[in-house]
Amino acid sequence: MSQTVRLQKYLAACGIASRRKAEEIITQGRITVDGQIVTAMGVQVNPSQQEIRLDGTLVIPQEDFLYVLLNKPAGYVTTMSDPQGRPIVTSLLHGIKTRLFPVGRLDLDTEGALLLTNDGELAQKIQHPSYEVTKTYEAQVIGRPSTGKILELEQGILLEGKKTAPAKLQILARKTSTTSIRITIHEGRKRQVKKMFQAIGHPLFHLKRIAYGNLFLEGLLPGKYQFLTEEDLKKIFLKKIPLQKNK
Ligand code: URA
Repeated sequence: MSQTVRLQKYLAACGIASRRKAEEIITQGRITVDGQIVTAMGVQVNPSQQEIRLDGTLVIPQEDFLYVLLNKPAGYVTTMSDPQGRPIVTSLLHGIKTRLFPVGRLDLDTEGALLLTNDGELAQKIQHPSYEVTKTYEAQVIGRPSTGKILELEQGILLEGKKTAPAKLQILARKTSTTSIRITIHEGRKRQVKKMFQAIGHPLFHLKRIAYGNLFLEGLLPGKYQFLTEEDLKKIFLKKIPLQKNK
């Protein structure tokens, strides 16, 4: 990068975090440009002439991007550190020298597909609403939701004053007091699936994410991961394909 670029974009391109997280890091006062702390957003930098540091460490462009699909076990947090000392998902990765960060989040008790990468730009696209990347979950809920309630979720319901985008639901199995349901959404609000089922009176007791777009977990056991190829990454985006720069 020989020209000027927005600081948060540069940090994302160097694999520090997604652009949104990079903005948080800037706000926290952890970035210096030529020795000066920068907390303002949108500052232009010239990385070939200026020294940009995160927590004192020089930030340099990433040569190789890595993409990992992990089957997150319950009991792991998807943050990069945890003040309460709970296990963090990146402790499940072994022998990877670059720092990978999770794309989005899964709750402590949620299992399943979690992407990790050092490609901040792609992470940003996966999470950006305009790409409408779908996430599919298998949910076990209490009780037997009626067809009408399922339709309500499909069409969108009010959650905290804002209607959810249309979702796809499929009943997988009805038991006496519980139901297994496959649900596909493309929004990423905090605890969205839990809140959606709570809102129709059928709280969740188990949640597993099984896919991003058409990229499914398939045979990955909990705690195991696989490296993704460009072909795999294309399966994530069902609407627009933004992979031209991720060779
Ligand atoms: N929705 C939730 O409620 N929890 C998750 O972990 C993911 C989606």
